[in-house]
Amino acid sequence: MVNLDLLYKPVSKTAGGSVGRLIVASNRVPVPSNSGAPAAGGLAVALQAALRVRGGVWFGWSGKTAAEAESRDLAKKTVGPITFAVADLTRRDVEEYYHGFANRVLWPICHYRLDLAHMSERCAEGYFRVNEFFARRLARLVAPDDVIWIHDYHMIPLAEALRRQGVKNRIGYFHHIPWPAPATAQALPHYERLLRAFSAYDVVGFQTQPDADNFRDCLIEAAGAKPRAGGRVEAYGRSFEVEAFPISIDPESFALEARLAERNSLVKRLRASLEGRDMIIGVDRLDYSKGIKHRIEAFGAYLEASPEAAKARVTMLQITPKSRSEVPEYARIQREVAEEVGQLNGKFGDVDWTPLRYINKPLSQSALAGLYRLAKVGLVTPLRDGMNLVAKEFVAAQPPEDPGVLVLSQFAGAAQELEAALLVNPYDIGATAAAIARAVAMPLGERQERWGDLMRVLRDNSIDHWTRRCLQAIAGVAEDEAGSSLHPAGEVVRSGVISGAEPWFCAQSLPHLRN
Ligand code: F6P
Repeated sequence: MVNLDLLYKPVSKTAGGSVGRLIVASNRVPVPSNSGAPAAGGLAVALQAALRVRGGVWFGWSGKTAAEAESRDLAKKTVGPITFAVADLTRRDVEEYYHGFANRVLWPICHYRLDLAHMSERCAEGYFRVNEFFARRLARLVAPDDVIWIHDYHMIPLAEALRRQGVKNRIGYFHHIPWPAPATAQALPHYERLLRAFSAYDVVGFQTQPDADNFRDCLIEAAGAKPRAGGRVEAYGRSFEVEAFPISIDPESFALEARLAERNSLVKRLRASLEGRDMIIGVDRLDYSKGIKHRIEAFGAYLEASPEAAKARVTMLQITPKSRSEVPEYARIQREVAEEVGQLNGKFGDVDWTPLRYINKPLSQSALAGLYRLAKVGLVTPLRDGMNLVAKEFVAAQPPEDPGVLVLSQFAGAAQELEAALLVNPYDIGATAAAIARAVAMPLGERQERWGDLMRVLRDNSIDHWTRRCLQAIAGVAEDEAGSSLHPAGEVVRSGVISGAEPWFCAQSLPHLRN
């Protein structure tokens, strides 16, 4: 049986003397470097918080390639309570599993961009093959009482592959990106194979209720799954939990970081360079799902309405570190965004004013926190996003006496919670431009009221709350409606292929990429 202590404490001995660890698996693993570079990425930061408190192992790809991956030892490094265990992949593995299937098939389809999906049977097989490889390496690390928590679309088949290796532990999965409705999800190559792979988990978590509902609908339509009480589903001979667990941040510590960052030299330099203008800020990984082109167009439409007034009043800063540049769709969006920025500045700029400052440089968490605090408007307008932690960080960073305004896409998972933001349809350029104008002109009273509502949401669902809920579910306990009593959950419905159910940026060194 699972050691419930691990939900609340660092690794410790149970009454029976056994030790249960938390084992986290994700494609990217932020192994601390000797340069002391901080962890980056929403997934990375959230999981580090979980492991720092409870201790455990973090398993995944080293980010490196090797000619022969199978025969190489896992590289291990222990820092404080966390042991990082990473495997190299071959060039072919990276090409097929990461670029080919994860980035060119799963990512676009889960973000409703069927037009950008690039199907390749070779890459699909590479994806399943690399997950088998990860399972062989991970299975050797697993002790009977460990709880395994697998993150994101790169590793959907990992639990099924672990079961084949005889791993009987409780295994949970968290999907950090959207899950589309059946009509879109059906476009996934190996759709049923992927759905069946999910059934090897004990808990499958999504960012929002609509995503969890979409996934359940897929199981019902494709596999005749039966929904049961308590969010459970019976499919492919197993019963498992499908639940929404909206990921979050630690609002208090982020607020503190933002306050301290007022002294950051980069923040001071920026403040001086604004020459009294208000700043509008956008922070995104350079990805077509982030709606950066639409946002620039909307900013252009805002400027167009009253160029002289805008010149006197605002400057926009778009911070956009490059990402996945090896993938053609990303190389294209990088060119297109750069062109759009050039056109906008050429049209509206003046010898003493650049309306849109666009930088591809990644910044530290501290610098970003300070910049959010300085901004009067946060533009978070993805065309589709699992959650978007930039939205939450922008809110947490605001000074209560003079808070900025969050303009948020209705298609970001965060919009399900942050209803007090100015919600926009990012495809509607005119409406987004109007929201920018409204945000820039919003009176202090309304800004404070909206910000108070948003902060309450963040405090009610902090990263600690998210971690606790996820781990409780995975470890096989559930809060009852009053949130107090615990009861066991998770059992095999009937014997199937899978035996036994009993006992989450990168991590590229410096950039702070939340999404
Ligand atoms: O959550 C989305 C995600 O794909 C994470 O899994 C990942 O760490 C982050 O975005 C950055 O993407 P990548 O690892 O492909 O650079």
